[in-house]
Amino acid sequence: MRLILLGPPGAGKGTQARRLVQRHGIVQLSTGDMLRAAVKVRTPIGRKAEAIMARGELVPDDVVVAIVSDRIDQADARRGFILDGFPRTVPQAEALERILAEKGLRLDGVVELQVDEGALLKRLASRIAEMTARGESVRPDDNAEALKTRLDVYRTQTAPLIAFYGKTGLLKSVDGMAPIDTVTAAIDRVLSPEIAVRGG
Ligand code: AP5
Repeated sequence: MRLILLGPPGAGKGTQARRLVQRHGIVQLSTGDMLRAAVKVRTPIGRKAEAIMARGELVPDDVVVAIVSDRIDQADARRGFILDGFPRTVPQAEALERILAEKGLRLDGVVELQVDEGALLKRLASRIAEMTARGESVRPDDNAEALKTRLDVYRTQTAPLIAFYGKTGLLKSVDGMAPIDTVTAAIDRVLSPEIAVRGG
């Protein structure tokens, strides 16, 4: 199964992707996680991305498209994957279509998590608390100023993907305001025809 999880910052994409990984034995491809790993070990991409990410802006399309294309080729992605945080712009979505076509693959669904903007700051505050409790360092973009930019970027550059995938018939929208388990159950429900076709 090959899926995209779409939603604003803090909508619960990572939370739900990790559950889908456990349920379906497929991998989570989070461009945010991959970029943070590159920042941590200071690769050329990481050094380029660091300040952009801290401001809450988007890393250039060509950089993330190349990362995703390489990652899809790895052996663990053969069974399927969940794209978490990619695509984020219409040019990224168009590039993904080309990449998948070249590799003879197709998408099974695009799940949009719908969450009120007012809830997002609260969710990020709870993530800061969770990370601090685990002794992890807080993300440099988890603050009110960067969140404002991330939301503006979502509205202007990522939200148009809802219409983009609406036209393909792949889009399924789920109420992301519900408790985490309820959201997971709703995702399972909207995906059940795809799961049935693919046998798991
Ligand atoms: P990325 O890491 O993708 O960040 P994001 O999209 O802003 O999303 P988050 O990770 O903040 O939130 P989430 O939706 O995964 O929510 P989570 O499950 O953690 O990207 C970071 C940056 O990298 C970007 O700003 C950009 O600079 C760059 N980047 C990445 N991809 C890129 C791309 N394709 N192109 C260009 N640049 C790119 O949940 C959040 C909190 O809420 C947690 O505490 C969780 O426990 C809680 N929670 C989750 N679900 C619920 C629920 N249903 N009810 C209550 N609480 C909940």
